[in-house]
Amino acid sequence: MTQDALKQLVAGEAIRYVVEDAVVGVGSGTTVNFFIDALARMKGRIEGAVAASEASAARLKAHGIRVFDLNSVNELPVYIDGADEATEHLYLIKGGGGALTREKIVAAVAGKFICICDRSKLVPVLGRFPLPVEVIPMARSHVGRELRKLGAHPVLRENFKTDNGNLVIDCHGLSIVDPPALEAELDHIAGVVANGLFARRPADVLLLGEAAGVRTLARKAG
Ligand code: 5RP
Repeated sequence: MTQDALKQLVAGEAIRYVVEDAVVGVGSGTTVNFFIDALARMKGRIEGAVAASEASAARLKAHGIRVFDLNSVNELPVYIDGADEATEHLYLIKGGGGALTREKIVAAVAGKFICICDRSKLVPVLGRFPLPVEVIPMARSHVGRELRKLGAHPVLRENFKTDNGNLVIDCHGLSIVDPPALEAELDHIAGVVANGLFARRPADVLLLGEAAGVRTLARKAG
């Protein structure tokens, strides 16, 4: 099975988690694009969607799915999004597409976060995928110096601006043994808007596309 076929498989499975007559949170990326295409087939049974990126909003609208501003939505039972890396504890690295801040906001609001990935994203320890950090432009050099102190090799993402008009620094060379602690530490650097670790609000369910089918990992309570 190709990677795209696995993404399509897992995106189709995520449809089972969509709550009818409600607004659904939609992340971004190539796996989520397959999910949006599948969602279009049941668009008459949902109220609409909140999108975590301009690209996803455009794709939803192209399918005729109503896109709401997050501020106008009182309840968001489910959020569906992909990831760049995931652990069995359902800690994630996200932001490969640069939408990490909005993704984190929508995930924070959602009742349930369903993460959809192909099998290649499952890792024992996060950090092989460079950890994205969204940064206010004037703080670029300061944040870079602070990231180096934490053992990262920071690389500015070239010719890239987030939907919020900010920069992304990708942190190479990290082996992230305590994701919640590093997430908090990075958030405390002045000029950091958000970082791509989703550990303090991890996924609730991880759907993994494998050749044998979809494997479901659920976060244990507590
Ligand atoms: C974007 C993200 C995506 O969820 C992540 O990059 C995974 O993307 P893909 O499904 O294309 O592999 O965090 O900011």
